[in-house]
Parts: sequence; C-alpha cells; structure tokens
Amino acid sequence: MNVHVVYAHPLEDSLSATLHKTVVESLQEAGHQVDDLDLYREGFDPVLSADDRRCYHDVDINRRRIDPYVERLRRADSLVLCHPVWNFGWPAILKGYFDRVFLPDVSFVLKDGKIGPGLTNIRKLTTVTTYGSKRWRAMVLGDPPRKNATRFLRVICNPRVKVRYHALYDINNISTDHAAGFVEKIRLEMLKH
Ligand SMILES: Cc1cc2nc3c(=O)[nH]c(=O)nc-3n(C[C@H](O)[C@H](O)[C@H](O)COP(=O)(O)O)c2cc1C
Repeated sequence: MNVHVVYAHPLEDSLSATLHKTVVESLQEAGHQVDDLDLYREGFDPVLSADDRRCYHDVDINRRRIDPYVERLRRADSLVLCHPVWNFGWPAILKGYFDRVFLPDVSFVLKDGKIGPGLTNIRKLTTVTTYGSKRWRAMVLGDPPRKNATRFLRVICNPRVKVRYHALYDINNISTDHAAGFVEKIRLEMLKH
C-alpha cells in the first residue's frame, strides 16, 4: 500500500517526533511504500496569500503552485497524520497545508451544483496525536481536532474509507510507562496497517 504520512512538529526530541519515527519505521517494516512529508523540515509555506485566495477557484493556476503536494496525495492509498494538538486544532503549518493543498478539484469536486469527494483514492485515514488536555475536558469542548479528523476529512476520501484516531490525552500528567505504552500501541497498529 502507498502510505502518505504528513507530519507537523518543529522539535526533533518531542514525543511527536518519536511517534512520527515509529509510524514511518513500522509502516516500512510492514512492507508499505511510505511517502513521508515532514512539513517543518520541508519548510512548507502554510500561508494562503492574497493571490492564492484570488485564484482559489481557478483550478489550473492554483494547482500549478502546489502540484507536487497534490501528486503525492493522489498516489496515496492511505493517509496518516501525525501531530500534536495546539489550540484544539491542527498546528498552523498543518492547517495551512489543508488550506493550500485541499483545493477545489483536489479534495472535493463540484458536479451539477453538488459537492463530492475528491480523494477517493484514499481508503485509510489515520491520525496519531497527543493532547495536553484530559479527554473529558476535550470532550466538553467538542474535541474539534477529533471531529475534523474523523468527520470532515472522512467525507473527502473514498466513501468506504476506514478511519482511525489514535490519541494520547493528558500528556503532562501521565507516567513515562503510559507514554511508552502508547508508542508501542502505535507501532503495533502500523504493523497491521
Ligand atoms: C502552542 C501550543 C498550544 C497548545 N494547545 C493545546 C490545546 O488547545 N489543547 C491541548 O489539549 N493541548 C494543547 N497543547 C499541549 C500539546 O498538545 C502538547 O504539548 C503536546 O501534545 C505534547 O507533544 P510534544 O511533546 O510532541 O510537543 C498546546 C501546546 C502548545 C505548544
């Protein structure tokens, strides 16, 4: 399977970095082709400029600016997002990736006034993430990152997409064993991906 990993964290010694390394290595060990996009390391520009916004619906012009990223998405059978939760959402660089790359005719198509999925090649959609918050507190707020990953992104993928959301909450209060257990869980999940 072609798995596109999209990763967002600036620090190499973070828990997210450990999870990212685990994700990539375990997927490779399982025999998958992994295309790893490390947004910080690539220096991805997340800003949708005035000109980008003006041309947003001009598919040809728009596509030309981010074509390599679109091609990488289109080659994928599976998409794995790996990131921490910041301000109950995606880190800005990942949010900007969606703003700039998930364009009309890429992530969604408009046909006869109806909107449909654009990334029907994606049959597995997985998130690996960590929160400072306890799970109950995130739930009280509606847990927006969970909903974005499991509901919003689901509708732009293949209608039969398998969605998985692996989250470690309350990371400032859990033991190192608990954190290591989560990393091991992710390793096993990726091995059977
Ligand atoms: C800028 C910033 C914003 C954050 N906002 C939230 C938040 O809204 N909700 C939450 O649960 N944790 C929040 N956190 C905590 C992070 O989720 C936590 O630091 C991260 O999951 C730990 O992973 P890391 O060690 O890989 O950075 C925030 C952290 C930072 C740095």
